[in-house]
Amino acid sequence: MPATRPGSIGGVISGWGATLGERVVTNHDLAQTLDTSDEWIVTRTGISERRIGGTTAGLACRAASDALSLAGLTPDRIDALILSTTTPDRQWGTAQIVQRELGLQCGSFEVNAACSGFVYSLVNAHGLLAMGADRVLVIGADTLSRITDWNDRATAPLFADAAGAVVLESTDGPGQLLGWDLDSDGSASELLWADVGGTVNMEGKEVFRRAVRIMMDSAEKSMRHAGITADDLALIVPHQANIRIITAACERLGVDMERAAVTIDHTGNTSSASIPVALTEALEAGRIADGDNILLVGFGGGMTAASAVLRWGGATS
Ligand code: COA
Repeated sequence: MPATRPGSIGGVISGWGATLGERVVTNHDLAQTLDTSDEWIVTRTGISERRIGGTTAGLACRAASDALSLAGLTPDRIDALILSTTTPDRQWGTAQIVQRELGLQCGSFEVNAACSGFVYSLVNAHGLLAMGADRVLVIGADTLSRITDWNDRATAPLFADAAGAVVLESTDGPGQLLGWDLDSDGSASELLWADVGGTVNMEGKEVFRRAVRIMMDSAEKSMRHAGITADDLALIVPHQANIRIITAACERLGVDMERAAVTIDHTGNTSSASIPVALTEALEAGRIADGDNILLVGFGGGMTAASAVLRWGGATS
């Protein structure tokens, strides 16, 4: 049921935080070792620099600490931790490192839905609230630099490291989630994938083509379930993979770029972290007010897509 049922227990985001990888790597830095240029990367992707370095758990803890303190919560108040990542530090156990380091006393688990993972996790967190949890910490964290082939000019300029986090608290009434959509198309799984221990494999052109379509399809489903149109959106927070994908998706949805959150110029593609980082930057810039309709929409390897319409501050009816 992608539409929130009237009278069901909902949630509101009460804290947020984001952090980027430790070291700035500019396009000029990449051009030292790759047959590429700042001009090509900026024109084709919108990326000027990216930040790499740190562990997935370490970045996750930094973003989550900020989210917890903004929510005014001590770690013992959290009922569940969902860590969305496609680059865990360990085959298993990364969420539990984060749980230990933050001092949480609750269950913790990982979600891997590639770059759609944060929205998958946020929707699942609402499910936990509906089942009785009061507060869920949702983190998107990735260190894609560890699975990037730095000798491959087709992929190296794109990927980077970051984490973003939100605290979701239960509320009486329907809360903020007006509509959502989780999607995947396994028939396209050979277009974008990575083996365990391997690096990113990508058919860039075809991923680009499908990305625009599946983002739009997912966004339209979420808006339909929410009972709104693109005109009702105050802000769209898209996955940051390529500025041309964002522009094309916004154009087809009928959302002008002034209503889009864009960080890709300084973040690159940070997978699970991409949407919560862009959301946090938009909040810090004062671009979101209570009552605003916000669309989160992403796509990724698999291929997956996911979207959610939030009424910031919670719906009143
Ligand atoms: N620097 C300079 N030239 C490059 C280059 C680079 N970093 N990467 C590729 N090229 C070259 C290609 O070799 C090709 O040369 P040719 O015409 O002589 O064969 C030319 O540039 C065009 O390559 P193409 O792959 O057609 O470029 P593009 O406009 O499709 O852009 C991507 C490539 C990867 C930026 C783009 O396809 C894309 O963003 N795809 C989606 C990827 C994505 O979002 N992945 C993550 C999803 S979560």
